[in-house]
Amino acid sequence: VQREYANVLVSRPSPGVALITLNRPKALNALNAAHFQDISDAMKEADEDASVGAIILTGSERAFAAGADIKEMKDKSFAEAYTANFLADWEVITKLKKPVIAAVSGYALGGGLELALQADILLAAPSAQLGQPEVNLGVIPGGGGTQRLAHLIGKSRAMELVLTGRIIGADEAERWGIGRVVREGSVVDEAVKVASDIASKGRIAVNAGKEAGLRFEKRLFHALFSTKDQKEGMAAFAEKRRAEWTHS
Ligand code: HXC
Repeated sequence: VQREYANVLVSRPSPGVALITLNRPKALNALNAAHFQDISDAMKEADEDASVGAIILTGSERAFAAGADIKEMKDKSFAEAYTANFLADWEVITKLKKPVIAAVSGYALGGGLELALQADILLAAPSAQLGQPEVNLGVIPGGGGTQRLAHLIGKSRAMELVLTGRIIGADEAERWGIGRVVREGSVVDEAVKVASDIASKGRIAVNAGKEAGLRFEKRLFHALFSTKDQKEGMAAFAEKRRAEWTHS
């Protein structure tokens, strides 16, 4: 039985696909502690569910997430933030084994963008508005934004976003290398298609593909020759038939 959460909706829109929808619409999905705990728990639940092959994280039409909850954190002291290691749990997505697709419509700002950037694949609706406006609040991105953006779009563009707080649209984001804009239909429908496709593959190869940094890529590639899925996948190609994955 799937758990229920106060601040996120969970569903299985297609076999092998878990859909997690941020659901604090009145606050444009601003991420307070309770909301983030729900996201984290729902993601872990999906990751541990053997029937799930890929996870989609989405928000509403108006907002993927407008950032960390400013009203909740505004009175924090340095000592409180430092001692409790505030935001230490934010990297949860990067620790999951299953691939995560962020389906972004509307605002993805501050921690909201940082959450989306932690996904393996980012799909954006034409309405998407992305930015790191923290500088306007007297702070900086705290959920990996400065580093992940620099890696994705280069230092100059990353610094422009981080130091000016300018919000960019989906087209500019795509041109810069942040994900893909989905022009026809809904971004969630497209995410379900991509997730279903991923869920139909052998889990071991998907997991390895996600895990591979350049340093490990070739070694993981070699190691996959010890799996039944590799034997089956390559035999199926040679025999012109569909592979029957046993995930072993
Ligand atoms: C708390 C927020 C919020 C946020 C919106 N709301 N964003 N509450 N934290 N990050 C609330 C508003 O206060 C308002 O509540 C309701 O959601 C609707 O928002 P409006 O501002 O009325 O909507 P609109 O005029 O359409 O403007 C949309 C917006 C604006 C441009 C997205 O809300 C905005 O600038 N939000 C803040 C964006 C931001 O600075 N994000 C970075 C946060 S810092 P009421 O009660 O008035 O209806 C951050 C640090 C990350 O993320 C650290 C690492 C994880």
